[in-house]
Amino acid sequence: MEPTSRRRALAALAGSAALLPAIARAEAKPADDDDIPPTDDLMREHGVIRRTLGVYEELAKRLESPTPPDVHVVQSAAELIHTFAEGYHEKLEEEQIFPRLEKANTLVKLCATLRAQHAAGRAVTEQILAAATPARWNDPKVRASIVPGMRGFVAMYQPHAAREDTEIFIAFRKLVGPKQLDVLGDQFEAQEHKILGANGFEKALAEVESLEKSLGLEDLARFTVR
Ligand SMILES: [Fe+2]
Ligand SMILES: [Fe+2]
Repeated sequence: MEPTSRRRALAALAGSAALLPAIARAEAKPADDDDIPPTDDLMREHGVIRRTLGVYEELAKRLESPTPPDVHVVQSAAELIHTFAEGYHEKLEEEQIFPRLEKANTLVKLCATLRAQHAAGRAVTEQILAAATPARWNDPKVRASIVPGMRGFVAMYQPHAAREDTEIFIAFRKLVGPKQLDVLGDQFEAQEHKILGANGFEKALAEVESLEKSLGLEDLARFTVR
């Protein structure tokens, strides 16, 4: 049985809980943070992606300074985008979200633009990964070559994710309805495990936190406007 369905079944049984073994009663506790609709899941993934965009912004600044950033930090940031955003999150959108909206003739033009932006972003990530290698990093021209792509990626992805949050996911929820949304939630979860392994979201979050730390961005207060 899929995890969400299992939790639901246990929750239903909890009404007549007297005969349930202790372990099952423990599992029948109210829904935890992970038992959320798939569209909320996609939105919190945008949170991890947005934080990686913050890392890109800082890296672009440092790439233009006299002290360039460590190649491994640049590599890890681009790899996080490659694996988590492009290899998992965008794939879900392209395979599960956009086709259903397109079939229902809803936000078709926006879906086409979002798909084109996924492809454009992948080309930039490839370029960054090709440049961010220890063998090429000593060449200032190589380092400078990735700055426009990095900044372009940030400028594209901020409105990209915002449109998905405020238009695409809302339309998708309305289109599929609560029952199918629940079924899709289980499918999305299975996909996450298949592509990213166990705790894929938590690992990506830990990765971006570690990147922020390595650049001194971990204290949110530093961004408070003065
Ligand atoms: Fe997207
Ligand atoms: Fe997205």
